[in-house]
Formats: sequence, structure tokens, C-alpha cells
Amino acid sequence: MTRGFQETRRRAAARKIPVNTTANRQQNTAERWERRVHLGAHPVLYPIIRGLGGLRPVLRIPGLGVLVSEAGLVREVLMSHDAYVKNGPSGSGALWTPVVGPKALVNMDGEEHRLLRRRLGDLFTPRSVEGIVEPAAAALKARVHEELEVHGRVDLVDCVKELAGGVISRLLGVPEHAPGRLADRELFDLGSSISSLVRLGRPTLTARQVAKGRSAVDVLAGPVRAAYRESDPDTFPGRLRELGMSEDEAMGIISAFVMVGTETLVSFVPRLVALLADSGRLCELAADRSAVPAAVNEALRFTVPSPMMLRDAVVDGSLGGTKVLAGDRILLSTIHAAKSLGGFDPAQATPQQARQLWFGAGPHFCIGMPLAMAEINTTLELLLDLYAQRPWHIAARQVSRGVLIPGYRKLELAHA
Ligand code: HEM
Repeated sequence: MTRGFQETRRRAAARKIPVNTTANRQQNTAERWERRVHLGAHPVLYPIIRGLGGLRPVLRIPGLGVLVSEAGLVREVLMSHDAYVKNGPSGSGALWTPVVGPKALVNMDGEEHRLLRRRLGDLFTPRSVEGIVEPAAAALKARVHEELEVHGRVDLVDCVKELAGGVISRLLGVPEHAPGRLADRELFDLGSSISSLVRLGRPTLTARQVAKGRSAVDVLAGPVRAAYRESDPDTFPGRLRELGMSEDEAMGIISAFVMVGTETLVSFVPRLVALLADSGRLCELAADRSAVPAAVNEALRFTVPSPMMLRDAVVDGSLGGTKVLAGDRILLSTIHAAKSLGGFDPAQATPQQARQLWFGAGPHFCIGMPLAMAEINTTLELLLDLYAQRPWHIAARQVSRGVLIPGYRKLELAHA
């Protein structure tokens, strides 16, 4: 047993809360709903992955690959980019090439990927993030206020989809009042129609799926290419041009953003809000915002919106004492690595080896994290402001079934 694995068990035990208190009952409710969310998406796989992860930190599963379930070892794989690649035959990267072309970050490795990431180093300054998120955040605020006041309820999942769609429209460089402009929600659906092509255990897309994905990308391409050619640095495509990207590179990068940056966010924000409401923490957070960053970070650890990452081993080696061969498919169980650290508890610090693992590590670390954090914080702040004026509660909810990324299908908030 590795030291990291022993440490994980010790911390998980330390997080246990005494039974029979109101706080404990609320905590149990919060954790039970989270489990339902996972089981809704993967009723068979989730218990298996968690069960196997609890047995051994590294486990060879015949026919499937090598399952890695301990945070330090997950990180080791992500950092060893010469030994484990993302764009291999069974990793998730190569899947996208027929849809978005070869330059979409997620399907690149090595020097070419490193150079592109370096050129994108200054992409998200606080000012550029604000320019992208602010208009969508203003629309979110107006909608939440209106629906809560007029209809007495608001579906947070639908609101976050619209927020994500608003961010996509900024990323594409769509002019605010362009004739025929797609509504934010339609843009979200378009992005989602691309990302939902992926299914667990299916390493390639069928010809029909590729055609569907390409027709969605073609719709997105129109405004991107127009904004790129106009070269206005106030638009996102114009900014990519300023950073030295070719038109095709800009197109690939934006497609990657639309594909991977929407589902995770729509999965996370409602689960964050549900966790805080169920565990009885809203009142305290509405009064004291200094505790918000720790609560968000802990909710990311506990929900793990990107539950599994894939890599291909390209050289023989060993991982936590288990032999790994070139050609092995490596299944990185971020979900077990993070959740096995214990129950939802914002007061506990995340151990070093697990820190931000839900955004990845190494060369493919989530480039959209500043954007994601701005979208998360803006939504939570808005809901906490509303709560401080007049408390709301969760009036109805449904978990999504049979989806790749676990989440709520609906989370309705209503004033008490
Ligand atoms: C809570 C929200 C999010 C989570 C948990 C998340 C998580 C991740 C993770 C784990 C990776 C690494 C995957 C791997 O190494 O295999 C990643 C990569 C990436 N993320 Fe995010 N992400 C989130 C939001 C976003 C947003 C909002 C965007 C952009 C709009 C975005 C864009 C990207 C891109 C482009 C990559 C690929 C980077 C590369 O391969 O170099 N993500 N994300």
C-alpha cells in the first residue's frame, strides 16, 4: 500500500462527523443527493469504480486498462507527459480530430502542444475574463430576479445553460445585435450537441456522429472566422489573432472551449448550490463571504465535475508498484482520488497531492479555469445576495440519467 493511499484513508476517517446532530443530518442529505447524481449518470459503473479504487491504488483490469485511483499517482501520470499521452489511440483527445481538426489542444501532445499553450499564456487576464463573463452574468442576474419575483421559482440548471451559452457567444465573437444571432440557450445546445457525442467506452466516433459534430462546428465557424478577419482585439477571435494564432488554430481552440467548457460547468454550479443548501451552509455564507472560496474549492473536490481522464502509456514502466506496458490504456479515476479523501467539509484543507486535481495537472491543465471560476463565483454571489435579502430553498429537483457528466437535469429554487 502506498503512503499516499494510507494518508487518504487516515484523512477520510478524520473527516467523519459525530452522529445525531442537525448538522450531521444535513450533511448526510447533501452527500446522499450527490450520490444520486452519480448513480443517475452511471448506475453500474460508479459503484464499481469506487469499489475498485478502495481496493488498490493501481489495478489492472483485463480488457479495460490500468485504473489509477490515488491522487498522487493520478498527478504523477498527468505530469509524466513523455510516458503517458492524451492523443493516443484510446485517450479522449484523438476522438475529436475528425470534428474540430488537429489543432484543438485536447488532441495535441508534446512540443507542438507546449508551444501553443505558451502562446496562449496571457489569454485570460482578469480584464479579458470580465469582458467575456460580465454580459452573460448580467443576463443571468436579470433572469433569476425576474423568474423568482414573477413566477416564484427559477430553474438553476436552465439558467446556467444560458450563462454558458452567453460565454460561448463572446468566445465566438458574435456581435451583440447581429441579425440572425442565435440565442444564448441555442448556442449552449449547439455546444452540448458536440460534447455529448462522447460516450464512455467508445474510443472513436461513428461517421454519422462526425457529420453531426461537423455541422455544429460549421455553424460556430461563421462568426469566429468573421471576427478573426476583422481582427478586433476586443473580440475573442481577434485576441487570438493578436496572440499569433492562425485562423485555423483560432477555430480549433474555440471549438475546444465550446466542447469541454460547457458540460462541466452546467454539472458543477447546480451541484455546488445543492450541496451548500442541503448541508445548511447558505445562511452563514450569505452573511460572511470570506468562506466562499473554501466552500467552492471543497465542492469541486467533492463533486469532481470531470470524473475520469484517459491517457495511453507509450513506454514500459511502473506505477505505484504495478507494471505498466507501452500501449496500456490508463484510466485516471479523479473521482475516487478526490472523493476518497472524505465527506464534504469546507473547513478541511485539501492535501497537497490532490490540490486542483479536478482541473487536471501538467501540460493539459484546464486552460479555461479562470473563466470557469468567474462563472461559478458570479452565480454563487448572485444567489447569496438574493438569499441575504430573502431566503430561498430547493423546491424541486431531478438528476440527469444516462449522461456522461453527472449532474442535475433540473434544480428549482423558490422563496420560502
Ligand atoms: C468546473 C468547470 C471545469 C472543470 C472541472 C474542468 C476540468 C478540466 C480538466 C480536468 C481538464 C484536463 C483534462 C485532461 O488532462 O485530460 C480540462 C482541460 C481543458 N479545459 Fe476545463 N474544466 C472546466 C471548465 C472549463 C471551461 C469553462 C473552459 C473554457 C471555456 C474549459 C476549457 C478547457 C480546455 C480547452 C481544456 C484542454 C486544455 C489542453 O488540453 O491543453 N474548461 N478541464
